[in-house]
Amino acid sequence: MSLKSCHYQTLVVASSNPGKVEEFVDFLAPLQFQVLAQPEGMQIEEHGITFAENARLKALEVATRTGYMALADDSGLCVDALGGEPGVYSSRYASNDQQRIEKLLTALEGIRERSAHFSSALCLAMPQNEVLLEVEGICRGVITNVPRGDHGFGYDPIFEVLDKGLTFAEMSSEQKRACGHRGKAFSLLEPKLKQLVMAK
Ligand code: IMP
Repeated sequence: MSLKSCHYQTLVVASSNPGKVEEFVDFLAPLQFQVLAQPEGMQIEEHGITFAENARLKALEVATRTGYMALADDSGLCVDALGGEPGVYSSRYASNDQQRIEKLLTALEGIRERSAHFSSALCLAMPQNEVLLEVEGICRGVITNVPRGDHGFGYDPIFEVLDKGLTFAEMSSEQKRACGHRGKAFSLLEPKLKQLVMAK
């Protein structure tokens, strides 16, 4: 399947998370895609047990349902002392960001080994139910004792990036993009995406 036979200039970001959609619009801007948000109300069940599996599920479902190429991310935070939790359950760990942060800090109370990583799996799929590209980016760090910073979303205030001394929430969006898991995943995807666009 080539990009010729679909609406290749338009790409739907398969996410209902405004924080993520905003990051993707920034990432995709230089590639001159018309970026659309996932249609409101479209719910996709994430029953995969890996980030890659969930990204594939979302990209395929959104691409086949909208008729456009779709880019999906499945991401989350894996904490070593908790055996990789919350992992693929990051968004379901508690009912809102504040409660998720509190639950994680409580689970780590008294634990000195606080290493963790964020992972982002990206999948680009075509409306013909075909996966075109898959990559995964990782950002290592530690879970802080208390939340710090006001930017970003999710677990950003309690994730201090390795060797940076700053949480994601203390970084500008440019800084986070440069060292974050989605930024890393996107730099793996970008050259492949460019190649596809050029081969059209
Ligand atoms: P997803 O939308 O199913 O991929 O869920 C990912 C969840 O992981 C989000 O709801 C956040 O709780 C968390 N998460 C993923 N990426 C980030 C990030 O960059 N910062 C903070 N939390 C994140």
